Amino acid sequence: MTIKEKLAERSQEVETFLQGCLEGRGFPDRLRESMEYSLMAGGKRLRPVLLLAFNRLLQGDGQAALPFASALEMIHTYSLIHDDLPAMDDDDLRRGRPSNHKQFDEASAILAGDGLLTEAFGFMLDSALERGLPATVVLQAMRMMVRSAGCGGMVGGQVLDMNMTGRSGVELDELRAMHAMKTGALITAACACGAILAGADLDDLRRATAYGKEVGVAFQIVDDILDVTGDEASLGKPVGSDEAQGKVTYPSLVGLERSRSLAEAHAAEAVRQLGPYHGPEREFLEELARYIVERVQ
Ligand code: IPE
Ligand code: IPE
Ligand code: MG
Ligand code: MG
Ligand code: MG
Repeated sequence: MTIKEKLAERSQEVETFLQGCLEGRGFPDRLRESMEYSLMAGGKRLRPVLLLAFNRLLQGDGQAALPFASALEMIHTYSLIHDDLPAMDDDDLRRGRPSNHKQFDEASAILAGDGLLTEAFGFMLDSALERGLPATVVLQAMRMMVRSAGCGGMVGGQVLDMNMTGRSGVELDELRAMHAMKTGALITAACACGAILAGADLDDLRRATAYGKEVGVAFQIVDDILDVTGDEASLGKPVGSDEAQGKVTYPSLVGLERSRSLAEAHAAEAVRQLGPYHGPEREFLEELARYIVERVQ
């Protein structure tokens, strides 16, 4: 099986969990529809797959981790809905469909995002209580989610992205720090939460976190590259959007070739973190780090 096939197969587990998860909760119909519209539009499900892979690597109970993995996908989906809004990147296509605010309207898109973010934490709490997970483990995992999604993570990174737009003289270190926050943080949370939920010790947690940070930056570098070289049909989102908006990106700062080699270097560093591990999960995580650099979607 190719890594792309493995990723698709593993994402099915998340797909099945997410299917219908917003139904029967008494949410207003249009709100639920707009949340489901973006949540169930496909997507690679990379973050939940990473969470589950680290959980398995460290012998966790995958069934207990699945609601956390799915909740992380809800947080990620909210970030995409808001990222596409006219006040932000103003993009009309996402996951191969009209962006949420195009299909519905801006108020609905803002509220769908708000809903996904808030309910994600509800999902984590509900499942932790139902399963009687150890409180310290749950609190640690949720703290990681909050820090990564919040102002020192994704939200903060999005603010830096907006502030950087149209600016000249940005240094590579500054751009990397922004990427690490806006995209790296949620990917790091995936790896770290997978480890935390498996009851990992500090060394394992450190390695999972370091892998996530490296893969996270590599992932956003490649996202920047694909905005230049990719095609709309396979990406399911517009290309050329960054240049049109005057975004500061790896290709705009150091060119395509150097961007590629930097992405490869980050992926190689991620793989190095897997040093002590063996077996099929290690192999999967290694292949995934390399695939992130080679991907075209
Ligand atoms: C897109 O993320 C936004 C970034 C952080 C680069 P993905 O490329 O993981 O998007 P989906 O989830 O597959 O749609
Ligand atoms: C996205 O960065 C970061 C998020 C936190 C959503 P981009 O703005 O480059 O993501 P795409 O290209 O729109 O998916
Ligand atoms: Mg953006
Ligand atoms: Mg965008
Ligand atoms: Mg992009």
